[in-house]
Amino acid sequence: RQGDGAAPAAVRFSLDGRELDAAPGETILQAARRAGVAIPHLCYRDGLRAEGNCRACMVEIAGERGLAPACCRTPQPGLQVRAASERARTAQRLVLELLVAETAGSAQAVDSELTRWCAALGVGAARFAPRAQPAADASHPAITVDLGACIQCTRCVRACREVQVNDVIGYAGRGAQARIVFDLGDALGASSCVGCGECVQACPTGALAPAGAAAQAVATRAVDSVCPYCGVGCQLRYH
Ligand code: FES
Repeated sequence: RQGDGAAPAAVRFSLDGRELDAAPGETILQAARRAGVAIPHLCYRDGLRAEGNCRACMVEIAGERGLAPACCRTPQPGLQVRAASERARTAQRLVLELLVAETAGSAQAVDSELTRWCAALGVGAARFAPRAQPAADASHPAITVDLGACIQCTRCVRACREVQVNDVIGYAGRGAQARIVFDLGDALGASSCVGCGECVQACPTGALAPAGAAAQAVATRAVDSVCPYCGVGCQLRYH
C-alpha cells in the first residue's frame, strides 16, 4: 500500500538450498553478492544499469524450462534458484569459453575479471576458433584500446554515459560487425574522450587499460585547473 509509511518487505527466496532475503527491487545476482555467494557475471557492474548481454550469470529456476540471467531477474517469494547445479554451471562455463575465444590472441587479456571467473569455474583454453583481431589503438595518452580483448559487454558505454555523462563510447554495427566505437568511429585519441578513466575501471577484460608509465606521468602532473568537460579533475593537460 502506498502512503502508509511501511517499508517494503524483503523477498525471501532460496539459492542453491540457502535462504536469502532480497531487498525490494534487488536482483538475484545482487542478493547473492550481498550474501557472499559467487555467481559469474561480466556485463553487470554495481552502479550501472543492468543489460544482461553476456549471459555469464545464467541460473536455473524451479518450474521454468529455460535458464535466466541472475543480473536481470528479481526474485519472487519462495523462488527456488540454482546457480551451482550441473545445468547452470555447464551454461556458465560454455559462455565463459565462448568469451575466451572472442578474446584469444589479445595481449591485454590477462588477469582480468574474465580470466578470474574462468579460473574459478575451471574454464581453460577455448575449443572455438578466435575471431579476427582488430588493430590496437594507442592514440590516447592515458588509455590503450585493444578491442581484440573486448567481449562487447558495454560496461564502458554505460560507464561513460551513465557515470560521467560524456557519451563518447558507443556500440555500432550489427551481428559479426558489431563493435565498440568512439564518437563516430574515431581513434580514441582523436575522439572527445577526456581521459577520466571510468571506462578503464569498468572494463572486465583489459580491452581498455591505462597507458604505459610515461603516459601515466603525463596524466597525473599538476595543472592549473580541472577538466572543463566532466569536472572530476582527471589531471590531463591538453596542448
Ligand atoms: Fe548477467 Fe551479463 S552478468 S547477463
